[in-house]
Amino acid sequence: PKLPIMIQGPMPIEAEYFASLLTDVRVEKSGNATFYLGELDGYPIVVAQTGKGLENTAAATAIGIERYKPLAIINQGTSGGHDPKLQVGDIVLGKRAVNASNFKTPKKARGEGSDPFSWIPMDLMASSGSAGEGKSAIDAEKIRYYLGNEALMQAAKAIAPTYQRGKVVEGTIASGNFWNNELDRIEWLHTHLGTSVEEMETASAAMIAHAYQTPFLGVRVLSNNATNQGHYDPSTAKDCQAFVKDMVTRYIDSL
Ligand code: 5AD
Repeated sequence: PKLPIMIQGPMPIEAEYFASLLTDVRVEKSGNATFYLGELDGYPIVVAQTGKGLENTAAATAIGIERYKPLAIINQGTSGGHDPKLQVGDIVLGKRAVNASNFKTPKKARGEGSDPFSWIPMDLMASSGSAGEGKSAIDAEKIRYYLGNEALMQAAKAIAPTYQRGKVVEGTIASGNFWNNELDRIEWLHTHLGTSVEEMETASAAMIAHAYQTPFLGVRVLSNNATNQGHYDPSTAKDCQAFVKDMVTRYIDSL
């Protein structure tokens, strides 16, 4: 039997539409994750509703890989813009994913306050040594980017011209259990980490997929953009799934 392609979405509005496109669906649950096993045009697909945030996503990714041995994983859903040129409805293809909440702070004495713009990036995968003290900590003072898989990227770019809701661009997806509304913070992340959008999942799925050498791509629609008054529109979640459906069809054809 063929190995499935896994489509991840955090919330019901980011997974249920794709699940509804499948035939012969069987549902399996594990922890906070729900897996919809079915077929798209006769090809096996697993839609994983992971739950929100880094922990739920990492767990669902590891469980999903161990159980279903996916050929490839696409993490998709909504996001908030960091780039003022991106509008609500535009899609960012994750050339890179970064956990934008991994930082070490400089030392400050009691009473000296906290200055997030001086925080130093921290790469948890730099070594197996301490990320906080000693030589390994110095090695860890860098940003870890997870690169998107090239074949998945090609499939996405091939169908991009058919997407009606907005434009499709390559970019950097930033993840963390945060929802930033401070425009200076957003601009700092945009400048220093090169972020296009923020959300709460892609980098954690990318980290686990890379550990298992499973081809991975993040695909994120903007549901909001605080940098250009782009108000939250949850209907974008369905547009993103429709885009990913066309992308997956294209990817399957290329196999
Ligand atoms: N900041 C953080 N998460 C966002 N999401 C959409 N927009 C944003 C944003 N501006 C997504 C997250 C999470 C849910 C709250 O919505 O990925 O799953």
